[in-house]
Amino acid sequence: MTGSPAGVPAFEAVDLTRSYHLDGVSVDALRGVSLRVHHGEFVAIVGPSGSGKSTLMHLLGCLDRPTGGTLRVDGADVATLDDAGLAELRNKAIGFVFQSFHLLARTSALDNVALPLVYRGMGRAERRERARRALEAVGLGHRLDHRPSQMSGGEQQRVAIARALVGDPKVVLADEPTGNLDSRNGKEVMGILAALNSEQGVAVVLVTHDREVAGAARRQIHVRDGVIELDTEAAP
Ligand SMILES: Nc1ncnc2c1ncn2[C@@H]1O[C@H](COP(=O)(O)OP(=O)(O)OP(=O)(O)O)[C@@H](O)[C@H]1O
Ligand SMILES: [Mg+2]
Repeated sequence: MTGSPAGVPAFEAVDLTRSYHLDGVSVDALRGVSLRVHHGEFVAIVGPSGSGKSTLMHLLGCLDRPTGGTLRVDGADVATLDDAGLAELRNKAIGFVFQSFHLLARTSALDNVALPLVYRGMGRAERRERARRALEAVGLGHRLDHRPSQMSGGEQQRVAIARALVGDPKVVLADEPTGNLDSRNGKEVMGILAALNSEQGVAVVLVTHDREVAGAARRQIHVRDGVIELDTEAAP
């Protein structure tokens, strides 16, 4: 997202909808969501199970397309992008942290983190050097050659964060990043995300069920039944 004109929001959604069709039944997971998230913001998305939080995150992360409405990511209307364009935007601008880590089990931490850089056509030595730095930044410089199966849950989540950070994204989206962690590891992960936001100005949008985690964010968006029922700081 480098080089974007000043004031262009990281995300701008207008009346966003997403319906899923399954065996002739349709589920309206999002029923008209409008929001703006600016660069440098720290936002928590909260709401009951099934309310549409992950669906919204997948749309913001360009992992999925809306059924209706408009979504601009760093000023680019996703409807104008083909799948390759969407993938490029995702790879360059957004770091995504999933609740279930999504790490390759038989691959070292270093290679897991270096993987997104393959799609940028970066040479192997530079990929590994960047991955090493990203792992050091999350306190895992001593675990470069460990495989996910040889790491604790907290360590695996930090590998997933390192992988999200390795491409220098301007936005990090995290879906329940502390959901599978005990409170000590959860605090550590939140500390990493908070520092990323305050020290590097990276916008962070995270989904959480944890009130304390949500309270650490400057802005809370409450989602219920596919709509926003409360936004503590609807951005101008
Ligand atoms: N791929 C899919 N196909 C069909 N329905 C889906 C699909 N993904 C989600 N849904 C439905 O859309 C609704 C919203 O799901 P979503 O995963 O966004 O909820 P959520 O708020 O993230 O819940 P949780 O807190 O449990 O993770 C749910 O009713 C869910 O069953
Ligand atoms: Mg979810």
